[in-house]
Amino acid sequence: MVKVTVCGAAGGIGQPLSLLLKQSEHITHLSLYDIVNTPGVAADLSHINTKSKVTGHKGSDQLEEAIKDSTVVVIPAGVPRKPGMTRDDLFKINAGIVRDLAVAAAKFAPKAFMCIISNPVNSTVPIVAEVFKQFNVYDPRRIFGVTTLDIVRASTFVSELIGTCPSSLRVPVVGGHSGVTILPVLSQVEGTEKLSQEQIKQVTNRIQFGGDEVVKAKDGAGSATLSMAFAGARFALNIIEAVVAKKTGIVECTYVDLAADVAGAAEVKELIGNDLGFFSVPVELGPNGVEKILPIGAINNYEKELFAAAASELKGNIVKGSTFITESP
Ligand code: NAI
Repeated sequence: MVKVTVCGAAGGIGQPLSLLLKQSEHITHLSLYDIVNTPGVAADLSHINTKSKVTGHKGSDQLEEAIKDSTVVVIPAGVPRKPGMTRDDLFKINAGIVRDLAVAAAKFAPKAFMCIISNPVNSTVPIVAEVFKQFNVYDPRRIFGVTTLDIVRASTFVSELIGTCPSSLRVPVVGGHSGVTILPVLSQVEGTEKLSQEQIKQVTNRIQFGGDEVVKAKDGAGSATLSMAFAGARFALNIIEAVVAKKTGIVECTYVDLAADVAGAAEVKELIGNDLGFFSVPVELGPNGVEKILPIGAINNYEKELFAAAASELKGNIVKGSTFITESP
């Protein structure tokens, strides 16, 4: 039984993400949860002749049934940005949505691998972590902030400049998932030595603020949905490959808790300092989720400046998420 639940399945990301997951032969049950429209989305997807059974669940009365015993829970629920908004502006609405979904997962699917897409990811992942702690089911190796879209964008934008194949170019992007907290490590990418410092600065900025290009182009109709569905499916399917198919050597950058008992966390803390409990890092995935956090590796002076500029915003975002749970009455 490999049950994957998508929470927010009727949304701009949720629908194409569910379509991509429906193509997996590893998934036996695709469970679609939302507060609207899931019966229709589920009926539609259920006609596709792949292995998984599809069920639709609408409204909080059906959340337990939707999420119960999930292997993987993917959360793209909540409101997206409109022009002029930062991801942090979404906190007021999305924090409560993610908290309620995390409570349901902690109660009914405490062993699930949690893939958090809802923004602001820098804060929503600490929210899920704190909820799981309150239910005594917390395992930092199983909770992930999905930052894959930053990596996907970086591969596309850098390939355009250096003339490589975007699907095979891997650009490490670490840190957080908003503006200056997004840290592409371009000095580690072969071919970027051809670029001028000005080009490096420009493409770094484009990776950090790439989401704004989509928000602006959609002109009030939301943020990235199709590219996010692609990225979210890649991440969730990689988890399934590692956990279910026991494939080894899968590495993805993802936003995780650098808890002391996670292999490799201490080395990363040596580089970024002890202040930042959560950070997107290259992670080797395995049957337990985060098998090992890999070293970020050498960074140049320009990247050191970027890291320094990210720290205070990221720290504030983490505290905001954690205290939303720990200090709520
Ligand atoms: P959308 O508005 O199209 O869809 C969101 C869905 O969530 C809707 O169907 C809505 O009914 C549902 N929803 C609302 N409250 C819910 C609840 N309590 N339980 C379950 N479902 C609920 O938004 P879109 O474009 O799909 O974006 C979703 C989230 O993903 C946003 O927070 C957005 O900022 C974030 N996002 C994250 C990215 C990342 O790289 N991690 C990239 C792009 C977007």
